[in-house]
Amino acid sequence: MLKILNVVGARPNFMKVAPIVAAMKKRPDDFLPLVLHTGQHYDAAMSDAFFTDLDLPPPDIHLGVGSGSHAAQTAAVMERFEPVVLQEKPDWVLVVGDVNSTIACALVCVKLGIKVAHVEAGLRSRDRTMPEEINRLLTDQISDLLLTPSPDADANLLAEGIPQERIRFVGNIMIDSLFKNLERARESKIKTELGLVENDYAVMTLHRPSNVDDRETFERILSALETISTRLPIVFPVHPRTRKTIAEFGLTERIAASKNLRLIDPLGYLDFLNLYSTARIVLTDSGGIQEETTALGIPCLTLRENTERPITVEMGTNVVVGTDTQRIITAAMVVLDGGGSKQARQPPLWDGHTAERILAVLQEVSLRS
Ligand code: UD1
Repeated sequence: MLKILNVVGARPNFMKVAPIVAAMKKRPDDFLPLVLHTGQHYDAAMSDAFFTDLDLPPPDIHLGVGSGSHAAQTAAVMERFEPVVLQEKPDWVLVVGDVNSTIACALVCVKLGIKVAHVEAGLRSRDRTMPEEINRLLTDQISDLLLTPSPDADANLLAEGIPQERIRFVGNIMIDSLFKNLERARESKIKTELGLVENDYAVMTLHRPSNVDDRETFERILSALETISTRLPIVFPVHPRTRKTIAEFGLTERIAASKNLRLIDPLGYLDFLNLYSTARIVLTDSGGIQEETTALGIPCLTLRENTERPITVEMGTNVVVGTDTQRIITAAMVVLDGGGSKQARQPPLWDGHTAERILAVLQEVSLRS
């Protein structure tokens, strides 16, 4: 029996951990899973809604760290996590993704000699100004087991000198949640509530500090949205960070003037899945949404200069367009005019069975050590 402490902290973690915990609960003779929430995200819309939508059991342990500067938040997680690990003595701590909670918990474990498995290892944007890139690099260096979503991730890890025996290509865990919940998401009434017609609207998300904390960049993107919204409604569930900067930059009235640009509160997992799965086009700076749109064959424009998920460009529907107003408009019009829609292929092992492969690897590696 393996005791596994599964760490969640921020919104993009919940849909990665939920299928893993569900798979472990189905095998009570082999796995004892605990869920630990650091509390990095704490609003009902950023956290609780995902537990309900994803059938993720309520956390066994909640650290309640909340927001703060990078140093303060990372330090708070470390300080509160250490005594829990010492008390629980898990066989493995499982961390996912690239948020501050991921590196904080991995760092505590490596110092205590507790084994860490990193799910979604090996992704690299090669942009060290992104806090997530630092979190990825460091977490991968110190984790015992690196579970990768795509072959490019394996190549990145090997190039950084990480030995092959620590790396396992298991596929994309987000897609497990996506396929599992697609049917349930169809019951969401979100499109009716918003008065939207299937395949005749765009979905937009934006929360990267480089896009929303910089006034000029934000305004360049906004100008593009104003033009695109003359063609079709754009639904924009607004992250709390973005909500704050819209107010700080005094952009509330300008946005309200674009009637087809519709800002709404952040959505839960099922409502959001319902929304983007029948969108004509998605514009985003999220990592996960690049993958989800590729899995469903929905055209996606990534409003960043780079991506840590190149397979979504090589095989999927993603186009990295940056933040220049005209480039965004041109790329969107290509999609809206029906030309240039990319032929998407499903990347290997994005098949809904990644959780089972993770469990198999955990068992096999534990038997060896
Ligand atoms: C974090 C992750 C990012 C991920 C994103 C998804 C890091 C470094 N960044 O960024 O990789 O893509 O989550 O959402 O870990 N806030 C609330 N309510 C909440 C949470 C946050 O109002 O429940 C506000 C706070 O004012 C906070 C700000 O949002 O200061 C930013 O939150 P934080 O967790 O620091 O980073 P995110 O931008 O959410």
